[in-house]
Amino acid sequence: MIVIMGIHIAPATVADFHQVLTDHPRYWGERDLRALHLLALVQEFGPTCLVARAEDGIRGYVFGFVTPDGTGYVHLIATRDDARGTGLGRRLHTAFAEAAVRQGARRLKAITSVENTGSIAFHRSLGFDAEIVDDYNGPGRAMAVFRRDVPSGI
Ligand SMILES: CC(C)(COP(=O)(O)OP(=O)(O)OC[C@H]1O[C@@H](n2cnc3c(N)ncnc32)[C@H](O)[C@@H]1OP(=O)(O)O)[C@@H](O)C(=O)NCCC(=O)NCCS
Repeated sequence: MIVIMGIHIAPATVADFHQVLTDHPRYWGERDLRALHLLALVQEFGPTCLVARAEDGIRGYVFGFVTPDGTGYVHLIATRDDARGTGLGRRLHTAFAEAAVRQGARRLKAITSVENTGSIAFHRSLGFDAEIVDDYNGPGRAMAVFRRDVPSGI
C-alpha cells in the first residue's frame, strides 16, 4: 500500500468496484462507461487494479492488467471530479506501472476515444506517444492509442 497525504493507493476490493459504479458520474461525467467495468478484472488481476482511498471515499482508480507479451495495459483510469488536477492521476498511473513491472511488464499501453482531448493531454504529460489508429474499434472507429516503455528505475 502506498500512503501519501492521506490518500492510500491499494488493490481494489469488490466493494470498491461497486462503489465506483454507484458513483460513476463523479468519475466519468455524462459518459456511461459502466459496461467497461468488469468485475473479472478486479477478481483476476488484483495487483493491477488499484483505488486511491481517502477519508471521504475513493478519489480515483485504475483498472488494468499485464498481457502475456509484457504490456501493462490500462483499461480504465479516472479521478473523482473534485480530485482532478492535483497529481492524483499521475500517482495512480505510477502505482499501476510499478505493479505492472512486478507482474513482468516492460511497456505500457492505453487507448481512449479520439474526442477525449483531456485524456490525450494527460497521457502525453505522462510521456506516452499518442497515435490515432484507424479502425481500431472496428470499421470507421478510430481510437487514440498510447504507448510508452517502462521508465528505468521502476
Ligand atoms: C484523465 C484524468 C484521469 C486525469 O487525472 P488528474 O488527476 O486530473 O491528472 P493529474 O492531476 O495527475 O495530471 C497529470 C498531468 O496531466 C495533465 N492533464 C490532466 N488532465 C488534463 C487535461 N484535461 N488537459 C490538459 N492536461 C491535463 C496535467 O496538467 C498534468 O501535467 P503535468 O504533471 O505535466 O503538470 C481525469 O481527468 C479523469 O478522470 N477524466 C475522466 C475519465 C477519463 O477520461 N479517463 C481517461 C480515459 S481511460
